[in-house]
Amino acid sequence: MKQIKIFDTTLRDGEQSPGCSMNLKEKIEMAKQLERLNVDVIEAGFAASSPGDFLSVKTIAETLKNCTVASLSRALPADIDRAYEAVKGAVSPRIHTFIATSPIHMEYKLLMKPEQVLESAEAMVKHAKKYVSDVEFSAEDATRSEVDFLAKLFDRVIRAGATTINIPDTVGYVMPEEYFAFLTELREKCPALDTVDISVHCHNDLGLAVANSLSAVRAGVTQLECTINGIGERAGNASLEEIVMALKTRKDFYNADTRIVTQEIMRSSQLLSRITGVKVQPNKAIVGENAFAHEAGIHQDGVLKNKQTYEIMTPESIGIAAKNLVLGKHSGKHALHARIKELGYDVTEEELEAAFVKFKEIADKKKEVYDSDIEAIITKESVRVPKVYSLDRFTISSGNTITNTAAVRLRKEENLQEQIESGDGPLDAAFKGIEKIVGKNLHLDGLSIIANTEGKDALGDATVTIRDEENGKTAQGRGISTDVLEASLMAYINAVNKMIYEEKHESESM
Ligand code: KIV
Ligand code: ZN
Repeated sequence: MKQIKIFDTTLRDGEQSPGCSMNLKEKIEMAKQLERLNVDVIEAGFAASSPGDFLSVKTIAETLKNCTVASLSRALPADIDRAYEAVKGAVSPRIHTFIATSPIHMEYKLLMKPEQVLESAEAMVKHAKKYVSDVEFSAEDATRSEVDFLAKLFDRVIRAGATTINIPDTVGYVMPEEYFAFLTELREKCPALDTVDISVHCHNDLGLAVANSLSAVRAGVTQLECTINGIGERAGNASLEEIVMALKTRKDFYNADTRIVTQEIMRSSQLLSRITGVKVQPNKAIVGENAFAHEAGIHQDGVLKNKQTYEIMTPESIGIAAKNLVLGKHSGKHALHARIKELGYDVTEEELEAAFVKFKEIADKKKEVYDSDIEAIITKESVRVPKVYSLDRFTISSGNTITNTAAVRLRKEENLQEQIESGDGPLDAAFKGIEKIVGKNLHLDGLSIIANTEGKDALGDATVTIRDEENGKTAQGRGISTDVLEASLMAYINAVNKMIYEEKHESESM
């Protein structure tokens, strides 16, 4: 059975897509989850792109122990130096350098002749090789490049020391059969490819990223690049969960497998959604809410008689457990800690303390506390940023025949500040009040509220995305409460605190 390496780029290609930005704490939490998922390589960011990105790649490199940590870098000496500085503390560091190779990119974007691209790629791989043994080279827009040119280029960079050659479908253009033929031809024209890992990185512009990645496995590649929930530039990247479960479910066809702990898939998907506020569509393969739901009577009847009538993989295999009633209002901190550990999370003393306070609040209001409630609390607490502002109290008056007004009082250290505002709706009024208190000009880019569990006393899980009108920076915040208005206000304040944290951390890393 062939082992396929999984190279996860959620924190680089995924994070650079709109609405998916994460702060340092969130990236670390996500990286730790990717390590639990057992990916082979984590591309933690693009170190040279900003001081914040540099710091997150460096911190992740120094934190993780069981996987390779890569930084992307353009084929420029200064970028490669920066990438090395960021990954050098990793147990297994990788420098990933790339240059565009298609005629259109070389002529219009790089303003370089093909010969210059060849020379630059070779020189930059040699430069990276001075620092680390593990060097990946990517030919950006490879699928719109000339095959003979690529074969020549790959030959030179492999001789210069590249250990992985990535052949991306950068613009999501190629068709599965065409990719198979293209990769096969490249292997024939450049036999050195068979001495290194061959990788593909597929974008989803025509909805074919996963199909193309799987076709590449048939053509002999040994590494697949992908992201959780398929997030990424434009229509996204190939989705990790779909690739992994396709290989696992159809081992008979591909004769290939990965080292992924598939039971961690659902948790990884949900953690990413919680952090970014970007929800997964309900009918998304593998991790969508409906992926294992059988609605039609005829299907339900079949599944009751034999699950395999309509289920080609089990929900348990991706980590969907039965809804366990675990704790209640009389449970203590030890019981909560034990359950958090059973769920696979590591929390610090301080995080446990904060989670316990929240747990007690919720257990007081709610009869039954489920695993999903605990996960909602714990993922929120573990990516917590300092609470510069917190909600002290609020009153809202709303109705369809009166003006909606809100009085919101926030605490900042020992000081309390109250603001009364009116607005188009109760939340508009309350958000205006918060905006005035924190002295920012904010725009609400998005708000969603979901019920975390079933029933009238379900936790409302609110996510907001705000944008600072002055500098265009965005932040997502989350709040959970049995009261959806309170959850929304908490989410808004959480986003403000994240914005303040990010501003502080950016100015410190300058
Ligand atoms: O899509 C792409 O080609 C990339 C490369 C930098 C690998 O993201
Ligand atoms: Zn990409």
